[in-house]
Amino acid sequence: MGKGRDNRDKAVKRQYEDFPYPPRNPEDDKGRLITGSPSHLDELNHYIFAGTRDFSKPFRALVAGGGTGDAAIMLAQQLADHGNVGSVTYVDLSKASRSVVEARAKIRGLNNMEFHTGSLLDLPKMEFEPFDYIDCCGVLHHLENPEAGLLALNQVLAEGGGMGLMVYATLGRTGVYHVQKALKALYGEEPLARQVQLSKKFVENLPSTNWLVRNPFVGDHQMGEDAAFFDLLLHPRDRSYLVPEVVEFLNSAGLDLVTFVEPVKYDPAVYVSDKDALSRIKKMSMIDQAVLAENMLGNQKTHIFYARKQNNSIPAIAKIAPNMVPVLKNGNTAEGLAKSFRGRNEFVISFDSEKVTFPLPPRIAEIIALVDGTLSLSEIQNKLSLNWEGFRRLFAPIFKFLNGLNIMWLRAA
Ligand SMILES: C[S@@+](CC[C@H](N)C(=O)[O-])C[C@H]1O[C@@H](n2cnc3c(N)ncnc32)[C@H](O)[C@@H]1O
Repeated sequence: MGKGRDNRDKAVKRQYEDFPYPPRNPEDDKGRLITGSPSHLDELNHYIFAGTRDFSKPFRALVAGGGTGDAAIMLAQQLADHGNVGSVTYVDLSKASRSVVEARAKIRGLNNMEFHTGSLLDLPKMEFEPFDYIDCCGVLHHLENPEAGLLALNQVLAEGGGMGLMVYATLGRTGVYHVQKALKALYGEEPLARQVQLSKKFVENLPSTNWLVRNPFVGDHQMGEDAAFFDLLLHPRDRSYLVPEVVEFLNSAGLDLVTFVEPVKYDPAVYVSDKDALSRIKKMSMIDQAVLAENMLGNQKTHIFYARKQNNSIPAIAKIAPNMVPVLKNGNTAEGLAKSFRGRNEFVISFDSEKVTFPLPPRIAEIIALVDGTLSLSEIQNKLSLNWEGFRRLFAPIFKFLNGLNIMWLRAA
């Protein structure tokens, strides 16, 4: 058992030395910043600190298993843009991955990062000051004992801090593990580059009945990148989670789920029109609703979620209040959204191939046009000459819709 585990640990490290993931060219950082969930500063502020965190004050972030650096670079750049007081600590097993993220940081002129090569399991021994926020995406499901990894992260998390995590989701990955097993049986003993070469050919010729072939949601192996192919189909060790398993996993390490993102993918009411079913859904807990949504949709390939230490009595998620400022995720502008909503009473969004029609709340175009990232809700209310209760009634469904799509968050003025 111990020997097999050692070998698998070595195989995971070797994979990420040979195939740093995701593949990134540092030169691309001259032209664009990759942003995403979790760990966008406005998003984590909304979900972990009730929107009240001031990033011009000291803030310590850890990116555990940071790979080629997408989250670490996003966090470091966003903290630098807030006055460069916050810092990012990057830890990863793979030296090759670290050299990519170091090159990206250099190109961006970031000086608020530190880099360590090692296992996240050793974090409690590394004598860091506790971290306010920890990002760990696509890593824990590769450990022999993911619970031990999560516990190690919790041990270096500050009281009142939180984590943004991603693990694989079972239903959307249907077929991945069948093919992994087949490839391991055939080519598991070959050198890594040869495994990729042989496996690509094998996968191209799988019978049409194969579940991976039939799964329209998984396509990483068809992108042409060896690192992506390897990560999906030749990984020496990975597992996936259903929603209840995510919750158990968190609880095992003394953590509570705050929310999944995007929220709309975990809200079954969005995909149901039957009145009886809707009234049953309304009576369910947030977690039972997420379980139901996962079983209905069947297409989640990953679960992205925020978590905090158990028994934290301070509210985690920002709430609608007069002093809160609505902010839009970058890439969305008030004018652009207002334009796409103007004159309509419903809006169709396609999730994978599933088209969902959202009824648009009254006055959404007019209200969204005033969201500039600086005006508070009470200032927007005044511009509309409404009283607070009247405005709140209009704004609540707009916020539910846009926050559900993960494009609007709240932060304190
Ligand atoms: C799939 S990549 C994800 C990279 C990054 N988090 C992202 O989302 O882009 C997994 C990374 O976890 C690292 N890793 C795996 N096990 C680890 C461990 N025990 N401690 C630290 N890093 C680990 C690998 O070296 C690899 O860079």
